[in-house]
Amino acid sequence: MNFQANGAIVLFMKKTDFFITFEGPEGAGKSTQAQRLQRYFAERGIACVLTREPGGTPLAEELRKLLKGFEGGEKITPVTELLLINAARNQHMHNVILPALAAGKVVLCDRFSDSTVAYQGYGRDFDLEVVRKVNALGSAGRSPDLTFLIDLDYASSCSRTSQREETRGEFDRFEAEKKGFHDRVRQGYLAIARSEQLRMKVIDGNRCADEVFADILEEIHEHCQL
Ligand SMILES: Nc1ncnc2c1ncn2[C@@H]1O[C@H](COP(=O)(O)OP(=O)(O)OP(=O)(O)O)[C@@H](O)[C@H]1O
Ligand SMILES: [Mg+2]
Repeated sequence: MNFQANGAIVLFMKKTDFFITFEGPEGAGKSTQAQRLQRYFAERGIACVLTREPGGTPLAEELRKLLKGFEGGEKITPVTELLLINAARNQHMHNVILPALAAGKVVLCDRFSDSTVAYQGYGRDFDLEVVRKVNALGSAGRSPDLTFLIDLDYASSCSRTSQREETRGEFDRFEAEKKGFHDRVRQGYLAIARSEQLRMKVIDGNRCADEVFADILEEIHEHCQL
């Protein structure tokens, strides 16, 4: 509580509704680090929701399954892919992310609209302005307050995803893309980071998980006075 010179009492509400996203190539450590940050907040009594894209609601999770593993003998066109991702995103925004932020919670989201710019825009060579406009519709105009781009080279990414316990040897539609696609995605992410330095922090993912997390916490303390 603070007192103004004229005696009026002004309540300064502390901002707690931070929207934080994790981005980066496959196997970069997004889920690992998002879970660590969730535990860190929980241990300190900070209300926090961890969610993911595409997904986060029953309908959006169904769309995720189609996007990652559709095997109906029909190619998903780039426009359909962009629209399905943003259909899932809009369900997620209205039913999970925006209500949690309105309740003053921190929202941690494992991938968000930068993934769409990197994968569908740069990776699939889709018009970036169109991707950004459709993303704005999907995300109801809400951008993340802070984004961690966990950067990792292609060889390390492949080695981590092929060793991953839960999906050893199985690749989804995106993981199965060739090196050229993943190189464009990585360069796309780095281009976004260059143009939005205040929001997007590039974290070197090619180090042990503790070192990566230490950098993330440093940024959290600098940007979010929680
Ligand atoms: N810093 C690290 N060093 C070595 N291995 C790691 C590191 N961080 C995560 N891993 C391991 O690499 C694999 C991929 O990590 P994780 O699932 O967190 O990545 P991701 O970015 O979420 O991947 P995806 O894009 O496929 O969801 C896991 O087996 C995880 O245990
Ligand atoms: Mg993950």
